[in-house]
Amino acid sequence: MKNAISLDEPKLARVADAAAIHALLWSEREAIPLKDRFNTEETRDWIRQHCKMRHFWVMKREDVIVAAMLLKPAEIMYLITDARFRREGLGVLLLRHAKRKRDELWAQVKPENERAIALLRREEFREAASWRGPTEPGWVGYRWTRAARDEPGGKLAKRKGRR
Ligand SMILES: CC(C)(COP(=O)(O)OP(=O)(O)OC[C@H]1O[C@@H](n2cnc3c(N)ncnc32)[C@H](O)[C@@H]1OP(=O)(O)O)[C@@H](O)C(=O)NCCC(=O)NCCS
Repeated sequence: MKNAISLDEPKLARVADAAAIHALLWSEREAIPLKDRFNTEETRDWIRQHCKMRHFWVMKREDVIVAAMLLKPAEIMYLITDARFRREGLGVLLLRHAKRKRDELWAQVKPENERAIALLRREEFREAASWRGPTEPGWVGYRWTRAARDEPGGKLAKRKGRR
């Protein structure tokens, strides 16, 4: 991480942010990856609906969206940082925000998406074959639970034990 920017706070996306979120995601269609049908008015509308439902979180710099994440009840999808602002800790800030809000989380990534996997592993997500359903074919599931973190031998337990 080049420089940790602890002043940045994830904010709930507004409906008016949907087009910018869509454009940011579409700019990374190969990495995520996204199918052609993502680039439609229907998908932009789907994003608007999720903004309305308070599922999209964004990070802004000078009022421009530079990172985004869809946080469903317990699943993270469409995590993205604008290429110009990578390795500054924005991905970590979004994931930590999700972890504060949930007791367990699930994310699916393509096995070749090394950046996303490194980020998930760094944030204590561990590979899991399935969760509330099977992982989609060709994707790898990563799961985080607060319980695992707190259980004996977990990070928190170790920290407590040293006191
Ligand atoms: C994956 C992604 C969201 C990471 O965002 P980011 O803001 O750059 O992430 P951070 O700066 O918070 O990185 C934190 C950690 O992630 C890991 N990481 C991020 N990018 C990495 C890279 N290019 N190579 C190796 N590790 C990487 C590292 O552990 C890094 O910590 P470090 O910088 O101290 O080494 C970003 O690369 C991205 O938008 N990729 C395209 C979209 C995508 O694939 N999203 C996932 C879809 S499921």
